Amino acid sequence: MALRSAGSGKVSRGPVHHPLFARFYARMSVNAETRMGMGGIRDRLLSGLSGRVIEIGAGNGLNFTHYPSAVSEVVAIEPERLLRRLAVESALRAEVPVDVVPGTAEALPVKSEAFDAVVLSLVLCSVRDVPRALGEVRRVLRPGGAVRFFEHGRGGGRAMLLTQRALDRTVWPLVSGGCHVSRDPVAALREAGFELGPCRRVMMPENGPVLPSSYCVLGTAWRPTEERPV
Ligand SMILES: C[S@@+](CC[C@H](N)C(=O)[O-])C[C@H]1O[C@@H](n2cnc3c(N)ncnc32)[C@H](O)[C@@H]1O
Repeated sequence: MALRSAGSGKVSRGPVHHPLFARFYARMSVNAETRMGMGGIRDRLLSGLSGRVIEIGAGNGLNFTHYPSAVSEVVAIEPERLLRRLAVESALRAEVPVDVVPGTAEALPVKSEAFDAVVLSLVLCSVRDVPRALGEVRRVLRPGGAVRFFEHGRGGGRAMLLTQRALDRTVWPLVSGGCHVSRDPVAALREAGFELGPCRRVMMPENGPVLPSSYCVLGTAWRPTEERPV
């Protein structure tokens, strides 16, 4: 259950404030649904989910219409004000109940072990503190619960990795709302104590130019049923 709900009263400037990027993403992401096949990726990301789900960094809410009807509730965390407003509109079009809530991955405003699944889509690249965010994912997920992820990260050969690292130290986070291209989401999940399930490498766009942000991974991880120290 969310401890705060969106849309009530005045919202102050939040910890994630990227108004220009938010405007750009709101347009680009809608085009990518069809032109880059993101709609199909979202279907695969969310297929088979059921019960209570928390989606972290929900953006403008493009996942919402892809949730299967077995999902009883989605709590969608989004820190950026413009994207959150668009997510509230998307929630109205969803077939499952979606509650859009302000907050960050590093301090999720929800109770522990309250969710059957966590959805991460194109967000670990942007959070400020990946280990802390994944610690929160682990806290809010019930033992045995699933993390469904679609994330981009490091990939390609040595030249591409050097390029990705150079971009991360310079312009990329500045122009892309804090995004990084050289992170390794699968390794980060493993280091955070999750059990890795099936993972598939995906290039995005699939048939277009290869960009530093093209190297994606679509997969599932689980919170172990028996706790081990991380
Ligand atoms: C590239 S967008 C992806 C949006 C959406 N998940 C999707 O699949 O289209 C990255 C999102 O992460 C959000 N974000 C950035 N920093 C965050 C943080 N610390 N905690 C949670 N979300 C964050 C951004 O506001 C933005 O909505």
